[in-house]
Amino acid sequence: RPDLKVNIAGVELKNPVMTASGTFGSGLEYGEYIDLNQLGAVVTKGVASVPWKGNSGVRVAETYGGMLNSVGLQNPGIEEFIKKDIPFLRKYDTKIVVNIAGKTLEEYCSVVERLYDEDVDLLELNISCPNVKEGGVCFGTDTEMVSYVVKEVKKRAKQPLIVKLTPNVTDIAAIAKAAEAAGADAISLINTLLGMAIDIYRRKPVLGNIVGGLSGPAIKPVALRMVYQVANAVKVPIIGMGGIISGEDAVEFLLAGATGIAVGTANFVNPRATMDVLEGVEEYLVKYNEDKVIDIIGTLNI
Ligand code: DOR
Repeated sequence: RPDLKVNIAGVELKNPVMTASGTFGSGLEYGEYIDLNQLGAVVTKGVASVPWKGNSGVRVAETYGGMLNSVGLQNPGIEEFIKKDIPFLRKYDTKIVVNIAGKTLEEYCSVVERLYDEDVDLLELNISCPNVKEGGVCFGTDTEMVSYVVKEVKKRAKQPLIVKLTPNVTDIAAIAKAAEAAGADAISLINTLLGMAIDIYRRKPVLGNIVGGLSGPAIKPVALRMVYQVANAVKVPIIGMGGIISGEDAVEFLLAGATGIAVGTANFVNPRATMDVLEGVEEYLVKYNEDKVIDIIGTLNI
């Protein structure tokens, strides 16, 4: 059987497949469908310094080949997370990646500081949520803001720092370079693509927040293009996501230069999607006589 191990910022994962942040809270529900021990890592839903209720009204809508959401970073707050979610996930033989949410630099820093002595493997800084409101900024849209927030967070972090990027920018390579120069140990992309849906009978936006983030197969070509551009711009490892539902999709991301693969929206259609992706990657390696998954990363013939 091929060797599926990958290394992300010094942390060894048994395979490149992980859940994308926000697919479920911290894995409790997901554990009913799959054996969490099979995953390379579990990436948790964004957690902030205090509990957040999230946005009001309709938060999720189905679209062609995708899903729109404006959840608004609902989360139980870091104290509850430390009490319940870390001990739950630690029972499994998988790596824990904690996604960190905030509306201000201070909020990000307080979560990172609180996690300093906790047993988690990697941090994923969410500077890319399209649904931040009430004085919040999407830091990921501007190179200077990226540089500032990553530098300050990195200073306070014990665990390696993954920085999650937004596709809602014109020059993704410039944003990724700014994150790397500021100390990012890895880059994950893409978060959701800003979109909208309208109910023509009521002449109203479908989502309570009017706009939201698009995910699922509809955004896969955008995600793949951005992973490819970022892989050519930085040296740190990349975790690719955006519409991955099969092993073939995952292989496209690996060839484009991703070291890790995250599966999000597909889980809502098929709760076993991560396992299908994992098996599909393995089958591809066997078919093409590759001994190790790391040997195909970034090996696109141009
Ligand atoms: O699409 C998203 N929705 N991306 C995020 O980063 C957060 C999430 C939310 O909670 O709104």
